[in-house]
Amino acid sequence: MEQRRIGVMGAGVMGAGIAQVLAIAGSEVVCYDVSADALEAGRAGVDGGRFGVRSAVERGKLTAAEADAALARLTFTGDVEHLHESDVVVEAVPERLDLKVTVFRELDAHCPQRTILASNSSGFPISALAAATDRPDRVIGWHWASPAPVMRLAEIVRAPSTSDATTEAVVELARAAGKNPVVVQDAPTSWGYVANRVYFAMVREAAQVVREGIADHAEVDQLMVDCFRWPTGPFAMTRGAGSGWSG
Ligand SMILES: NC(=O)c1ccc[n+]([C@@H]2O[C@H](COP(=O)([O-])OP(=O)(O)OC[C@H]3O[C@@H](n4cnc5c(N)ncnc54)[C@H](O)[C@@H]3O)[C@@H](O)[C@H]2O)c1
Repeated sequence: MEQRRIGVMGAGVMGAGIAQVLAIAGSEVVCYDVSADALEAGRAGVDGGRFGVRSAVERGKLTAAEADAALARLTFTGDVEHLHESDVVVEAVPERLDLKVTVFRELDAHCPQRTILASNSSGFPISALAAATDRPDRVIGWHWASPAPVMRLAEIVRAPSTSDATTEAVVELARAAGKNPVVVQDAPTSWGYVANRVYFAMVREAAQVVREGIADHAEVDQLMVDCFRWPTGPFAMTRGAGSGWSG
């Protein structure tokens, strides 16, 4: 897509990483948060964090010039108006449907008609967010995995109202950012799209195994790593997703 101004709403575990990836891919990115601490932590993580641009330079994934250029394209701000001229906004606020609906209503009221509103929800129906706006054709799910700079997931979730043009634009952006987009259908009555529905079914079973006294958390994790060559087991995965893999 020609347009390349991207807004990211939320500078937490996911938002800061998403902003970093899109800035590296060449977009002008504004990352907004209501919390000054989150903005500070997000900025610090993008610069010097474990998955930040300096670390990418040390590992030979980026040149120093590319890292500097990416940082120059990325602004963290506490002023929401800076988001309103974006071509695409990626929402990454906490996983509460009421909060996301409010955020989508406000973005719809303030952004120009062309702006695509994408949600990094882990599983809420995209049709519920589309229905909160007057641009349901330009609302879509764009589900990332943590840590965003590393993981290739781009689960693109189409609501019935999402247009082909919106889907194609987001698929193109995700691909240009080095991700591996897969377009799936929204499921209005269940949480989790595809990746999280399948993952949480496994977590429920893992928890049941622990409740039955068959094995403890660490043993279940170890068995799943050894059996399936997963990088980590189900319980360690849940902890890492919450912490951003910082520890
Ligand atoms: N953590 C993961 O592994 C992961 C993976 C994929 C998707 N997600 C989804 O991404 C979203 C964000 O998750 P996270 O882990 O980054 O959460 P987080 O709590 O780390 O970050 C959320 C940020 O949103 C900010 N915020 C709250 N209200 C806001 C508002 N009105 N406007 C702007 N910013 C606001 C908070 O200050 C916070 O910094 C959730 O929907 C979550 O389900 C998380």
